[in-house]
Amino acid sequence: VDNRNELSLPYASDFHVHLRQDTLMRMVVPRILEGGVSLCYVMPNLKPPIKTTEQALFYKAQLEKLAPSVTFLMSLYLSPDLTPKEIRHAKRHGIVGVKSYPRGVTTNSDSGIESYTAYYPVFKAMEKEGMILNLHGELPSDHDKDICVLNAEEKFLVHLKQIHADFPNLKIVLEHATTKAAVDMVKSLGDTVGCTITVHHLQLVVDDWAGQSHNFCKPVAKYPHDRQALREVVAEGHSRFFLGTDSAPHPAHLKECAHACAGVFTTPLAIPYLVTILESFGALDKLQGFACEFGKRFYGVEEKKHTHEGGKERKIKLVRETWAVPDSFIYGHDEDEEGESGVVVPFWAGKVLTWKIER
Ligand code: NCD
Ligand code: DOR
Ligand code: ZN
Ligand code: ZN
Repeated sequence: VDNRNELSLPYASDFHVHLRQDTLMRMVVPRILEGGVSLCYVMPNLKPPIKTTEQALFYKAQLEKLAPSVTFLMSLYLSPDLTPKEIRHAKRHGIVGVKSYPRGVTTNSDSGIESYTAYYPVFKAMEKEGMILNLHGELPSDHDKDICVLNAEEKFLVHLKQIHADFPNLKIVLEHATTKAAVDMVKSLGDTVGCTITVHHLQLVVDDWAGQSHNFCKPVAKYPHDRQALREVVAEGHSRFFLGTDSAPHPAHLKECAHACAGVFTTPLAIPYLVTILESFGALDKLQGFACEFGKRFYGVEEKKHTHEGGKERKIKLVRETWAVPDSFIYGHDEDEEGESGVVVPFWAGKVLTWKIER
């Protein structure tokens, strides 16, 4: 039992986050620091997907305008349009990695990929340039092959193993792991293979999303023993497993409907959720490594200078306090704002958390 009532922590890094566009983006991005995060690795599944360096840099400038003291690391969406030449161009312009979505498995993945070997020339260039390959590790459902959301990640793992074998110096991140099989696979591979774990997958199992659409995300949360494996690898302080929230806001009406969008919104309370959950399974001592250190070490990245004010590292102070998660976050309601408006329901809406960031 940890009896501390206060914790001081450097701002955390979120190595997988969906920041969206337009009015939704303008609601989400100013809340990154509120959630205790100062570095984001930004997902490219916009409408249209970010497939070129120019698009990524344009998006980055929009994000920086909304949150100047946050470090945004950008990624490109893997597609047939991406060439080795574009990889070299992207690298020169500071783009950090490339995200691969299998076709059709999740939000805005219609232009995702179908075969990995077709991209080997691109992977070769990425390996040479030192760019990161981020894998959404699920196979598309195929009921004739008995593939569905419950085993889509496990069935994908042979591809991870193969790509790593073929490109041992390519840094690969298996994103948002949800299974014991994935944890075991990543552990078994070399130092160039890392893995992100979300806040919500440290908490949820199948029962929590079946019929509860605000907990529905891709990959879906799996069995209790899978959640246990995620918790154990965090509790063990394994340095190739680090925080990537996969915070993925959707308008409430697109979650509360017959065919719910996949995604859990955690950005505004990312670290309070994480601290509450880590404490619940006795892993509070691994918070700093998991949320602040391991990801940056794997990526080999540093933060912008101005996250350190007056020569001192900017820190967050967490205090033990009970408070309720807001029921919703409003977006697009400013008088002068053009675009869609609505609300997003966050993870654990209305639930009491036991840690709060002191401001
Ligand atoms: C630019 C490039 O290709 O990245 N040149 C350079 O950085 N050496 C020119 C361009 O943006 O096309
Ligand atoms: O739940 C998810 N939501 N999983 C993803 O892979 C994509 C994300 C989104 O963009 O909504
Ligand atoms: Zn994904
Ligand atoms: Zn994601």
